[in-house]
Amino acid sequence: MNRAVFLFNIYLSFLFCFTPILITIGFVLNLFPKLKAKFFASLQRLFEINSDNSLLESKRKKLFEPLKNLKSRDKNLRDEEAVRVLEFGIGHGSNLAYYPKNTRLIAIDVDPLVEEELLKNLKKCENVVLEKFIATSASDLSMLPFEFVDAVVCTHVFCCVDNQKLVAKEVKRVLVQGGKFYFLEHVGYRNKLYRFIQWLARPLWRLWFNNCRLGYRPKPILQSAGFADVSLDYFLCKEHHFLIRPNVAGIATKLV
Ligand SMILES: C[S@@+](CC[C@H](N)C(=O)[O-])C[C@H]1O[C@@H](n2cnc3c(N)ncnc32)[C@H](O)[C@@H]1O
Repeated sequence: MNRAVFLFNIYLSFLFCFTPILITIGFVLNLFPKLKAKFFASLQRLFEINSDNSLLESKRKKLFEPLKNLKSRDKNLRDEEAVRVLEFGIGHGSNLAYYPKNTRLIAIDVDPLVEEELLKNLKKCENVVLEKFIATSASDLSMLPFEFVDAVVCTHVFCCVDNQKLVAKEVKRVLVQGGKFYFLEHVGYRNKLYRFIQWLARPLWRLWFNNCRLGYRPKPILQSAGFADVSLDYFLCKEHHFLIRPNVAGIATKLV
């Protein structure tokens, strides 16, 4: 068992034993947004999704493979053999290495503090040029025009955005026609009993893991936003904690 999983188990035991105290602390933290942001940032770092996880990394690699064949809808970019990609919830940029060469990146994160580390990591990636970093929620991309980007990417973000339906609609709006949304997310179990356990843990989990929704299903949300074609590759990450073990690598296509 690696250190992160061990710590995670201790944390969960603590969580369920001291529920009333934790709920109170959670509500008090809500009264101090800056303190809350710092607290959750350090919590997230402690339980960071382990990038040594080979299954997850191979799924990530496979998911982004088709980006290599992407042709931009923007004539100027096409002439330069470049593509414009938007990634929201980019954090420190764990997907940068998987982008094709000549990627023009629009980086979105609700947390402005990630920019510094992201810029450091971008220096190591010659394949990516940052067009702009925008500190905003992906539920409001009104600063970007309609059909502006060739592809949209997010990994381990959709679970914790403020409004999943609005985010899905905004992603569809900024994507070019025929463009694809690539995502890698922890989701609900297919097994009904396990999904029920996720559902039981959901309220506390959401309070303590920065709005993260346990066991949700991305496909209906994307379909209701108008994505016609949503394909999912479901897999279990054995190294992850039981509650966030089921993951999907998915591609949603904007047809109209
Ligand atoms: C778990 S981290 C994932 C970071 C990175 N994508 C990765 O896979 O390592 C979630 C990130 O999403 C960002 N985030 C949360 N809600 C967001 C929203 N509504 N819009 C944009 N970013 C958001 C957080 O600030 C954080 O950087």
